[in-house]
Amino acid sequence: MTSPPNVFRNEHKGIRSALFDLCLQIGRTDSSQQDKWEAVLQRTREVMGFVDRHRHNEDSLLLPLLKERAPEYYQRMRTAHRELDATHEALTHALENDPPQLYHSACDYTAALLEHMREEELEHLPVLQIHLSASELEDFQRRALMNAAPPEQNLLLRSMLGAMTDSEVAEFLVWASTAAPTETQAQFRAVALAVRQGP
Ligand SMILES: [Fe+2]
Ligand SMILES: [Fe+2]
Repeated sequence: MTSPPNVFRNEHKGIRSALFDLCLQIGRTDSSQQDKWEAVLQRTREVMGFVDRHRHNEDSLLLPLLKERAPEYYQRMRTAHRELDATHEALTHALENDPPQLYHSACDYTAALLEHMREEELEHLPVLQIHLSASELEDFQRRALMNAAPPEQNLLLRSMLGAMTDSEVAEFLVWASTAAPTETQAQFRAVALAVRQGP
């Protein structure tokens, strides 16, 4: 018997990787170096967009399926998402108005998301796997991946595929060969190849 899909693992690995890299990039950049600082601000917007889309997909594609079947967990996940708003707003404020605060705001946002993703993977996923069928979980995974616009999808793929184990990448590419449109499968393989090279 195959185990039910883990709908969080791959994207969450990608989100952690993108956030760690972002904190590192902000921390090593002097805000008086205009070109480098502009690149930091741009990267912060891209990573926030990537994480926002992930949340939007969970809210719009996953939570409605839980509403009737597991109302308690539906409420828990909704509340957990709302609890991320404070650190999200602080990071947005620092991004637009307060460069000296950007580093700590990004670290605070990362810390809040680390705990949130831990809770989703260890506490919410078993509930989802009981109440949603394997095909519903597969469908969520497929739609979440395909919902992203091309530049964002590229960031998602690079972050995700660079943070997964060899066997998880192989499993993902096999899954994508049936779940993704033919024209995007080559792109997935190319990104996997590019980010997996090196020691
Ligand atoms: Fe979430
Ligand atoms: Fe999540």
